[in-house]
Amino acid sequence: MKKRIGVLTSGGDAPGMNAAVRSVTRTALAKGFEVIGILKGYNGLLNREFVQLDVRMVSDIIQRGGTMIYTARCPEFKEWENIEKAKQICEEKNMSGIVVIGGDGSFRGAADLSKAGIPCVGIPGTIDNDIQCSEYTIGYDTALNTVMELVDKLRDTSRSHERCSVVEVMGRHAGHIALNAGIACGATAVLVPEVEHDMAKMIQRIKEVRADGKKHIIIVVAEGVGGTEDIAKTIHEETGIEARATILGHVQRGGSPTVRDRVLASEMGYYAVELLEQGIGNRVVGRKDGKVYDVDIQEALSMKKPFDERLYKILNDINF
Ligand code: ADP
Ligand code: F6P
Repeated sequence: MKKRIGVLTSGGDAPGMNAAVRSVTRTALAKGFEVIGILKGYNGLLNREFVQLDVRMVSDIIQRGGTMIYTARCPEFKEWENIEKAKQICEEKNMSGIVVIGGDGSFRGAADLSKAGIPCVGIPGTIDNDIQCSEYTIGYDTALNTVMELVDKLRDTSRSHERCSVVEVMGRHAGHIALNAGIACGATAVLVPEVEHDMAKMIQRIKEVRADGKKHIIIVVAEGVGGTEDIAKTIHEETGIEARATILGHVQRGGSPTVRDRVLASEMGYYAVELLEQGIGNRVVGRKDGKVYDVDIQEALSMKKPFDERLYKILNDINF
């Protein structure tokens, strides 16, 4: 029986996951492996939902958002008996390793399965960019560009009505999307979970920029801060400027991946298979100083990605 490796996508989908699946598949096939696509994340592993991926099955997906092998969240995978079950299924299927494309929860599962004896390599795939060991995660750049396009559209109508647009963006507990989109869209203020916000100061700033002739006012709120409707209401009440709240939602996770996400996914997929070929597991692939490298999963999970304080200061210094 030919040696096999598995690939799965787990957690919230991210544009570029398909490009990563394609890269993993093509690299592994070229190295003489058979490739098993595990459907719906760890659920598919526990429920034996597999598809054998050949070279043509991953054709025409590099440009597609979402994930062709589906994704899911699988709380059962936190239980050791399910890790043991997954290990047995991998052995039955002759899978000598698995590439796990997802976020930190997915990597915890990958660490547990590696500990049980099935080498797993994680690839960071999440729009949140909240994985410490990698400057970029797959999907982040596409999501940022989507947010930028949408906020640009909001700005048109906001300017025409001389309103304030309060826009909520995704990112779970992290403010990386909010900060970078805020810079790219010229937001007057960005509220992120990493920095305590001073409502009175923000109101004062809005009044100042309006007095100074600014027609459109954009406020970006990270979902980790929340309360977007209330923030819009307060702005309206305190400044007299009509304010509208917009929650961008899941549209941020869709769409064709950007060049950066496709290239990153292709590089990381290739690298992950190189590790598994050597029997190396319990690693996460990351990108640092422009280079792809690998790091121990526990080490990757032990640190929180620092918030870019300087970029936050730049935003506040130039957007008035
Ligand atoms: P998302 O941020 O979109 O939820 P993650 O990759 O962080 O994506 O999490 C995906 C899922 O991984 C979690 O919802 C959880 O069900 C699963 N998971 C598997 N094993 C573990 C584990 N040991 N610890 C935490 N989560 C795990
Ligand atoms: O982790 C990606 C993400 O889109 C977060 O930004 C957001 O908090 C969460 O997933 C939304 O999850 P769901 O798809 O379950 O609504």
